[in-house]
Amino acid sequence: MELFLVEREKWQKMKIVVLAGGISTERDVSLVTGSMIYKALRKNGHRAIILDVYLGYEGETEGIFDSDRDWAASISAVSSVNPDVSKIKAMRPDGDKNFFGPNVIKLCQEADVVFMALHGVGGEDGKVQAAFELLGITYTGTDFESAAMAMDKTVTKDLFRAWDIPTPKGIVIYRKENFKDAGSGHKHSVIFDKYVAENGSEEDIVFPCIVKATNGGSSVGVSIANERSEFDAACDEAFKYDTQAVVEQYIKGREFAVSVIDGEALPAIEIAPKQGFYDYKNKYQADSTVETCPADIPEETALRLKSLAERAFRALRYRSYARMDFMMDSDGNIYCLECNTLPGMTPTSLLPQEAAAVGMSFEELCEKIIAMAIK
Ligand SMILES: Nc1ncnc2c1ncn2[C@@H]1O[C@H](COP(=O)(O)OP(=O)(O)O)[C@@H](O)[C@H]1O
Ligand SMILES: [Mg+2]
Repeated sequence: MELFLVEREKWQKMKIVVLAGGISTERDVSLVTGSMIYKALRKNGHRAIILDVYLGYEGETEGIFDSDRDWAASISAVSSVNPDVSKIKAMRPDGDKNFFGPNVIKLCQEADVVFMALHGVGGEDGKVQAAFELLGITYTGTDFESAAMAMDKTVTKDLFRAWDIPTPKGIVIYRKENFKDAGSGHKHSVIFDKYVAENGSEEDIVFPCIVKATNGGSSVGVSIANERSEFDAACDEAFKYDTQAVVEQYIKGREFAVSVIDGEALPAIEIAPKQGFYDYKNKYQADSTVETCPADIPEETALRLKSLAERAFRALRYRSYARMDFMMDSDGNIYCLECNTLPGMTPTSLLPQEAAAVGMSFEELCEKIIAMAIK
């Protein structure tokens, strides 16, 4: 684990923008991730500020990195439901013309590095990263290419299949009225009269199944349909957030996550919600879920999880760090669900717990992420 050791005396004191917020369904989670990172960076002696990527900052920017303001003071814990982002959008009528709020680009260009604390669409999907590359801004985490591939669960699953990484069987569906045959010549099939799939048929849907928004995160737009009568409601939930949904075989069993830093996996963490599945509430409300790290599993299973996580890291062409989510059925078959480009760093998040299991503090984890960005 030498790779993860960071020598304190080498830490440089840098001007850092922690970029958070935005207009995705994970806005609130991102703000809490950002505030945790900001506090750690301040503790490490950096000249850090937090900026909301969408709302920006309209005050004086001269000397901003040296002000003693507590930029995290107004950020509160994640509530039990995801936020209504239409209120945030309404605060910036020009938001459609420029996603970046006032002074965001200016301050990011002034900073030595931007610490990406964004989650979801507009931050974790590679768009901000692509803009930053063109603007010469140094940022943490992976690049736009892997971020975009990982954001789309259908693309991720196609890559898993190509790389022999087991993933639950699934198809992609659209609402019939929204489906436009792109003239690709692909045969498509109508499912339960209401939906269209290009890569499967009604027979591929076996209950219970999971329906999820293709570009979601934090379990927003994810539900279980135990039987046909629950399917339409599950689809309605997914289609609230996206025009495409993934319908997937439900894997009953144990859930794990494995983070990978610089190509090397950390110990697996087991996630056991006290009630229901690992939904938004169980992810962010303290004491809703029992997390065990390192997971209490045979050595062989731990090694298999690590090797699949490292393989997924390569398949998605990740650089820097990421977290992979897994299910294991009662026969011990492991399935990779998805990859997370900018994993949560909230008090209940998984990556910091995995780092702690190898003796890496939250502050050291933040330094390691910065070191990978500036090297
Ligand atoms: N095929 C599946 N079988 C069983 N549970 C699943 C399956 N897919 C998702 N889940 C549950 O839903 C949660 C969220 O799904 P995931 O694919 O990780 O999307 P995201 O975290 O991006 O919202 C998982 O952590 C898991 O608890
Ligand atoms: Mg997940």
